[in-house]
Amino acid sequence: MACAVVLCAVGACKKQDMYTQRVIRQWDSDPASADGSSVRPPVAGTLALQLPDAPVSPPRVITAALLARGQARFDIYCAPCHGASGNGLGMIVQRGFPQPPDLAGENLRHAPVQVFYDTITNGHGAMYSYAARVAPADRWAIAAYIRALQMSQASVLASLPATDRAALGDTP
Ligand code: HEC
Repeated sequence: MACAVVLCAVGACKKQDMYTQRVIRQWDSDPASADGSSVRPPVAGTLALQLPDAPVSPPRVITAALLARGQARFDIYCAPCHGASGNGLGMIVQRGFPQPPDLAGENLRHAPVQVFYDTITNGHGAMYSYAARVAPADRWAIAAYIRALQMSQASVLASLPATDRAALGDTP
């Protein structure tokens, strides 16, 4: 009992800084911020969870930088299920998620790239939408990278330039 009284007394004379700090309520003005508003604008690149995105047209030129961006995004967002090579045996699938089709398989190899963009935007069957995580421009980068994955797995040696064939040890 004596102990409880002492604790109360200590608590009453020393209020915590966080308890007594200045509080700004939602929509109050905030003289300490540069624009005088307590509402901070979303940082560049913030994706809306609900609103549909403005459509972005596909890039006209596929650059190495675009493919590198697509690879990085694919490895983060898609490879956990689709596997780094797109074969559908990613770690989440190995742990029980339904197995997606091979991205380099016959059907998807002949699908227009719009299918990849739309699948990321809307999801497909058991795969949910990635619209809230992958920005429209990045969807095209991923679509371009999927094409590169497909070509890397379905090309015949004879279709490569002579220098590339030589680098692979193919001497015609
Ligand atoms: C959580 C696991 C998972 C992740 C992550 C995932 N997918 Fe899928 N994906 C699936 C499954 C499962 C299917 C097959 C769905 C079905 O047929 O019901 C699928 C199907 C697809 C298809 C085939 C669509 C068609 O028309 O047949 C494409 C293309 C695809 N995914 C692309 C992607 C891309 C690109 C990403 C990354 C942004 C991604 N997926 C991330 C699980 C996933």
